[in-house]
Formats: sequence, structure tokens, C-alpha cells
Amino acid sequence: MIDIKDKIAELLSGQVEDLTKEEIKGMIEVPQDKANGDYAFPCFRLARTLHKAPPLIAQDIAAGINGDPVFEKVEQVNAYVNMFISKAEFSEITLEAAQKDDFGSSDEGKGKTVIVEYSSPNIAKPFHIGHIRTTIIGDSIYRLYDILGYKVERLNHLGDYGTQFGKMIVAYKKWGNAEELEKDPIKYLLYLYTKFHKEAEEDETLDDQAREAFVKLEAGEEEEVRLWKWFSDLSLKEFNRVYDMLDISFDEYDGESFYSDKMQRFIDELRDKGLMHESRGANVVDLEEYGLGTALITKSDGSTLYCTRDIATAVYRKEHYDFYKNIYVVATQQNLYFKQLKMILKLLGYEWEKDCIHVPFGMVSLENGHILSTRGGNVVFLEDVLNNAVDKTKEIIREKNPDASEEHVDEVAKEVGIGAVKFQELSNNRIKDYTFTWDKVLNFDGETGPYVQYTHARCASVLRKAGEETVKKAEAVDELDLSYISGENAYELVKLLYVFPEVIRDAAYKYEPSILTRHIIDIAQSYNRFYHDEHILTDNEDEKLAKVALTIAAKNVIKTGLSLLGIKAPDRM
Ligand code: ARG
Repeated sequence: MIDIKDKIAELLSGQVEDLTKEEIKGMIEVPQDKANGDYAFPCFRLARTLHKAPPLIAQDIAAGINGDPVFEKVEQVNAYVNMFISKAEFSEITLEAAQKDDFGSSDEGKGKTVIVEYSSPNIAKPFHIGHIRTTIIGDSIYRLYDILGYKVERLNHLGDYGTQFGKMIVAYKKWGNAEELEKDPIKYLLYLYTKFHKEAEEDETLDDQAREAFVKLEAGEEEEVRLWKWFSDLSLKEFNRVYDMLDISFDEYDGESFYSDKMQRFIDELRDKGLMHESRGANVVDLEEYGLGTALITKSDGSTLYCTRDIATAVYRKEHYDFYKNIYVVATQQNLYFKQLKMILKLLGYEWEKDCIHVPFGMVSLENGHILSTRGGNVVFLEDVLNNAVDKTKEIIREKNPDASEEHVDEVAKEVGIGAVKFQELSNNRIKDYTFTWDKVLNFDGETGPYVQYTHARCASVLRKAGEETVKKAEAVDELDLSYISGENAYELVKLLYVFPEVIRDAAYKYEPSILTRHIIDIAQSYNRFYHDEHILTDNEDEKLAKVALTIAAKNVIKTGLSLLGIKAPDRM
């Protein structure tokens, strides 16, 4: 990774004997006002040891480093050494790094395991547009930690257990038909589920039957387990089709059921530690004193709950992976729930509870104002949304590029259509609710995925036109005359490229991919301004090489940036 501060600290340490390079680096400031330089070094602290007035010290240091090619100019102003970085030098350092494939990657996470749990849909329920957020945000968080050198475990905590399966089992036994189920599993299971709720309004015994069925399932009764397994397998097959389309995968699919035999230990522990008490036959943990209500651990019929399984899950993860961070990408609706979970873990004495991180996100709604619920059967399937995106993109590409082959259109439409959906998902601050709008998603000129991909393809086209030989020469950055990168837009672009690794870290540690998305939009816009304002492939060979070098770097950074969002970067569109 490039670090200008590091280079400056190195130079300064030749002038300042009493401080280590690291100490000096920590003291270097970035002035608010660019008139005070790109970087500044305050000398107050040195006055004590040097027995000299700070301005005089600053004067000596400035004189000592002035003339180094890194600087355009060095000034002493009061107690400060103000340093102005040479544009050509800055461009060289930046482009040298930014042209490399591994630009942005680091090994700072080496030896640390981060769990990212995301998607986690409920079996036998539709994989609907509401799941888009956790799935895509989670995947991006995984990619961000991966590039920073962490070992990442991608977990899909499938909702494959609980009373609702009792309902499914009862509904299937009463009204189900195997052939119909196999034909279109999720839609049929949804039909059964909806029917169950409708009938249960009339017939109160149905809910009791469902509870009974779930108790049987937990007890491992053959018929209940067989049906449940069948529903799970069919659902997972459907989910995997969507994951394939999204090019998203997981290391484990251990859902809630996986923990069904790992809970007793904690139920006992909660009781032994006096944390749990009985309330109308159920077992609860009272969290009122922390303002967190009460958490239900077992129901009066002895069956366990979501929370019970999550306690077991967290401890299993700690014991199994010894995680550094255990990240849950789950909607804001579960804010209180995760606070309860963390508090229970804390009360049980697990200090690592602080490393369990709930990463919440707001709601997605559709243009026509539908909020998506399973109960009412008013569901928008994610798969349909994705297919729709691909189809709409095909039309746009055919229009823009009438000569393109059918094959090309198919392939690019997939990369652009799916990419557009992901990009939109990741451009909003995750905590905000947002409305999914087709016009916004697929606008090639807006702040969208297609726009960024288009910019990448534009870079690729410039490089094709420049020709292989020129590109090769432009890759030898230290031999170029980078004083040609002087236009406002060109230099602005260099600065944006320079901070890219920092932006990745910021996005990762704030669990906020939109920080990266924003930055990639800025880079794309900056490149397009440069492209429109300046003649890149000029007759002046040196100038051309400098600008091609910038194009190579911009293309590379956009590509890496998109890959961190899980989006492909086609060379032609
Ligand atoms: N299946 C749950 C749902 O759809 C999300 C699971 C979240 N993860 C967890 N460990 N509780 O609401």
C-alpha cells in the first residue's frame, strides 16, 4: 500500500533526532486550508528537548528537506513546516500502485477470522425482494474483509426451524399434494401457509395442532422430520438458483435446526445462574432492568425459540471458529432482539459478546408502495426482479449497440442487469429505507451500476485504441513524464485513486459498502470529465503515455471497486 505520510516521516526523521519515525508520522497533519500545504508538521513538541523556539526549529527542518523531489515546495510558517507535494511525484507514487491488480488489498487481517452471517432466508417461504438487502450487503462486507486479509466465513443461518414448520406440516397433511409441491415448491408451500392462516381464523384447534407437530419435530418423530427435511431440501434448491444468479455463495448453510441439539446446555446454565425464571409455564429471561424487555427461552410446551437457538449459535461460533468478529447482517426490525441476545450472552459471562456485531439495514419497498409481507401472499419474488432486470437491460443494450451479437447481449445483460440491482442496493446508506425504482436502477447516465460499468468499458476502449505497445510503455510508470497529468480533472482523479485503499478500510470497518460505492461513482465521474476535457490519445507521445497510464489505473481501480460490490466489469458493453 502506498503511503505518502510514510515517505514524509522518513524524510523528517533525518532532520529530527529525538523522535522515532512512527512518532513523527503520528504528528503529521493534513491542513484544512490547502494554502498551508498538503501536509504540515508542527514543531511545538520539539522546543523542550532542543531548547529552541518552535519557529526556528521549523525553519531548520524546512531547509533540511527542501529540494527533495517529493515536494513542490516547503515553507516554514510560524511553528509549522508546510509541505506541498509535487504533483508529478504524487502521480507517480499513486499510478505505480494503482495499476497493480492487488491495489487496495492488505494483510492487516492476517490470522483473524471474521464471520459474516447474511441472507438467512426462512425455508418454505419465498425468497422475496425483502431479502435482497441482507444478501447483497452481506456479500459485499465479506468481500471487503477478504481483501483486507481476514479469513472470512460466510454463513447462511437458514430459518429452517420453529413453530411455522409445525404449521407447514399440519397444512401439508391436511391439504397437500406431492406432485404440486414438487412442481413449484415455494409457491405451493406459500399457498399452504396462507391457507393455514386463513383456516386458523375459523378453526382454533389448528394452531394447537401446529404446536404439537413442532414439538414432535423437535423430538425427532419420523414423519414430522421427513416432511420438514423434504420442505427444506426443496426450498434450498430454489434459493440456490437465486444465489447462482447473484453469484453469491456461502461456506456453511447451518441453519437454526443445526443448533437444535446444542441448546440444553444454555437453558440449564441460564437456570443455574438464576437468570431465567418461569412465567406462566414458559421460561423467560427478565431484561427489564436494562430496558430490554423480556426474552422467551422456552414456551410452555417446552419448545425452544429463535433466541434459544441464537444463544447456542453464538457460542458454537466462538468455540468452532474463535472469531475476531461475528457479524450479523439483519434488518433493523431485529435491533431490540440483538440487544437482548448480546445482553444474555454477557450475563452468561461471555466477554466476546462485544465482538458480536449486529449490522442493521432499513427497509426496501417497491414503487407502487407495496411493503412486502408473506402472510398476505402479496409477494415479489427476488428471482422475478432479477430476471426483469436482465430483460430490461437486454433491450437497452440492443438499442445502444444494434450490431452486437445475441450472445454478447445475453452475457452483458446478465452482468449489467444484476450489477445494476446490486449497485442500487449498495449505494444507499444501509440504515435508510429506500424505494426500489426501475428508472433509477437502470439509468446509464445516473449514479448507477451501468454508469460505472460503462465508464470501465470506456477505459477499456481507450486502451484498445491506444494499442498494446503503448499500454505496455504506460505501465512503466517510473519512466513516464507525469507532469502531463496537470489538468484539474486529471489530478483530481489521481487523488481519488490515491485514497482508494483508505476508502476500502473505512467501508469495511463501518460495515458500510455505500462509502465505497460513492467513491467509485466519484472516480467514474472524474474519469469522464477528464475524458471529455482532454485529448488522451494525442500525437505528443509523452503526454499520451502519461494519460494512458492514468486510464490503466482508473480502469483497474473501478474494476476492483466493483468486484468488492460483487459486480462484474465487462470490457465492452
Ligand atoms: N431467518 C431470519 C429472518 O428471516 C434471519 C436470521 C438472522 N440471523 C440470526 N442469527 N438470528 O428474519
